[in-house]
Parts: sequence; C-alpha cells; structure tokens
Amino acid sequence: MLTRVGSSEKNSYGDTVAVAFAFSPGMEPFKHRQTYRLDDGVSQYLPFRLMRNPSFPAPTVAPAANSYLGLLRDVLSGMGSLNKAIPPRWFYDQEGSKLFEDITRLPQYYPTRCERTILSTYIREIVPLLGHNKVLVEFGAGSATKTSVLLGNALVSEYIAIDISGEFLRESIASLQAQFPHIPMRPVEADFLRPMELPHTVLQRGGIGFFPGSTLGNLSEAAAVNLLRTFGDALGHDSILLLGVDLLKDEAILLPAYDDPQGVTARFNLNLLHRINRELGGDIPVSAFKHEVRWNEGLSRIEMHLRARYDVQFRVADCSFSMREGETIHTENSYKYTVRDIRLLLRAGGWNTTGFWTDPDGYFAVLSAQRVPIGSDQEYSAD
Ligand code: TRP
Repeated sequence: MLTRVGSSEKNSYGDTVAVAFAFSPGMEPFKHRQTYRLDDGVSQYLPFRLMRNPSFPAPTVAPAANSYLGLLRDVLSGMGSLNKAIPPRWFYDQEGSKLFEDITRLPQYYPTRCERTILSTYIREIVPLLGHNKVLVEFGAGSATKTSVLLGNALVSEYIAIDISGEFLRESIASLQAQFPHIPMRPVEADFLRPMELPHTVLQRGGIGFFPGSTLGNLSEAAAVNLLRTFGDALGHDSILLLGVDLLKDEAILLPAYDDPQGVTARFNLNLLHRINRELGGDIPVSAFKHEVRWNEGLSRIEMHLRARYDVQFRVADCSFSMREGETIHTENSYKYTVRDIRLLLRAGGWNTTGFWTDPDGYFAVLSAQRVPIGSDQEYSAD
C-alpha cells in the first residue's frame, strides 16, 4: 500500500506543481536524523485567522521553520517536477547563513552596502514615518546588521526578529541586545512565508514591518502580493512597512553580484546539495554540478541554477533521480524592479508608498508604506 503525501501545490516561485511522490510503509524516512518535529505538515496549514486566536500561546519556534519533513517534501516534489526547482528557504542552514554573510561583504554584492548607506543617510527622514512606540518586526533578520540604525534612532517598544535559521538568529540578537539593553527583544525561529503568530502587543500598538535585503524580490509577483497582505494582517491596521528592494540596472552590474570570481556565491548555491546529502541521506555527487546565473530579461529577474556538468544519477531519501547533462535545478529568483513596479506591487499587497529613498547610483531603494485603509480607492488622487 502506498500513502500519498500531498497532491498538487504551489512551489516557491508560485507555479502549480504536482507533488508526485509517495511513501511505502517499508521506507524509513527518519533514519538519517535523530530529531525531527512532529508538528510539521499539520499546523502550517492552519488558516491565518486561526493562528491569531488569542487563546494560542505565542511560540518562539513556529511550526515547520526548518524541519526534516519540510525539507524532504520540498526536495522530493521539486526534484520530481519537469523543471526541477528547490525553494530558496533551504539555503539557510548554519553553514548557508554564514556563507550568505560572506556574500553580503563581497565587493560585487552591492545591495547590502547600498541599503545600509540609504538607511544611515536618510534615517532622520525615515524615523518620523515610523510612528511612536510601535513593535519593530523584522522578517528574515539573519545577522540583523541593518537593524541597529533603526533601534538607535526610532522609538520602538519591542523588537521581534524572525528568521528560519534559529541558532544564527539567536547569536545575532544576543549581540544587538547587548548594544540596546533597554529594548525588549525576541528572536522567533520561523519561516515568514508560512502562517505565524506574533505577540499580541503587535496588534495593540501597531507594528513596523522591516523587510530588508530585497527578499521580496525572491518571490514571484503572486507570492509577493500574498506575502505583503499576510504582513498587513499580522501587523494590524495601524502598521508601517519599511522595505528594501533592488532596482533594475545593467546586466554587467547585476551578474557579478550573483557570480563573484571568488566563488563564494557558487559555494552558497552548492551548499544546498551538501545539505540534502547531510540531512536527507542523499548521495548527490556535488562536483557534478556547477553554479549558474542567468539574467531573465523578459521576467526582469536574476535566476540561480545548479547545472549538471554531465549525465548524473543519485538517490535522495531512497528515491532515484537522474539528470541529463545541462539540465538544471532552479534554486532562486531575484526580481529587479523599477520604482513604478514596486509601488504597484505594494499597492496590490494593500500598502500605499509614503517614502522612497535611493543611493547615489540608484541601485537600491528603501520604501516606507502605510496600510491602504479599507474602502479607499483614491481613484482621482493626483499623488
Ligand atoms: N535577497 C537576496 C538577493 O536576491 C538573496 C541573495 C543574494 C542570494 N545573493 C544570493 C540568494 C546568492 C542566493 C544566492 O539579492
């Protein structure tokens, strides 16, 4: 007898994919790991409204942030589809989070530098738009290096940092806490793309959603709009969003940011295969794959792939896979926006842009936004 695990669902790029894998009772998917979370796969599908029911205690570990079953499901479904793809959330194990930090320090990777310059240059204009005593909620905080300029200048009642890489996050927050001992801080290990419950103080006081690093650009338009709406629901009516996005620019600048000659981004991309081998008991020959970056002009996005150098066969969690020479596993998209694109995307996600700042080269942008009041269409606004 076969037990079906899933039927059809959306992958991280927003395309509908068939989940074409099954477990037979004889398979032991857990044998390669000593600990796993049993809550995975059940609570993550609770509707958001339910998660906000006040009778639920606020978790510091939300369901399915970084679990064995989640990885197994995404890898088997992604590798089983016609265009192989694995969602980028799985990049960020301890090793991946460290490699990503190295990427942000590369001379070719301009976004982190630009965003930091924008925030510190315009902090006096930004702060008045953030309100008083709201709860600062950072989505995908990672090393949280851009947060100190906000914490040092804005009046916030509390700081909640959400990241999928729990251990890494806790270390970052410990050092921020030492810098700002008077601000209560709470690290939450969670995947912000999944339903999450925030402490009630967020809805009471209103939240400032901080979403830096152009992470929004790693989602399809449809998924980005949904996420912006989810943020709005989680943060409440009286909330503010501070968003960092990468702007459209010449390919000659874009490509090296994702394909540095030092090979750091290549190591980061290939670490995904090492992680699958480690955590799912795979035997993928990592050296058979090559980091590949493409600029997709029509969709205005950078794509990252892992390309098979030759025909290759391997096993993951007792399933066999084969890939032809040149075939790729699509691992990430990074959309590049015009100013109008991002304003439209925010509006579609329920937010009105209230501020826009950029660096002297116009490479990157920080925007502030307010929730669109229900029932306002602003059809005749000249703004
Ligand atoms: N949000 C970042 C971006 O799109 C993520 C990122 C940067 C990234 N460099 C990367 C992800 C390299 C994977 C690999 O720029």
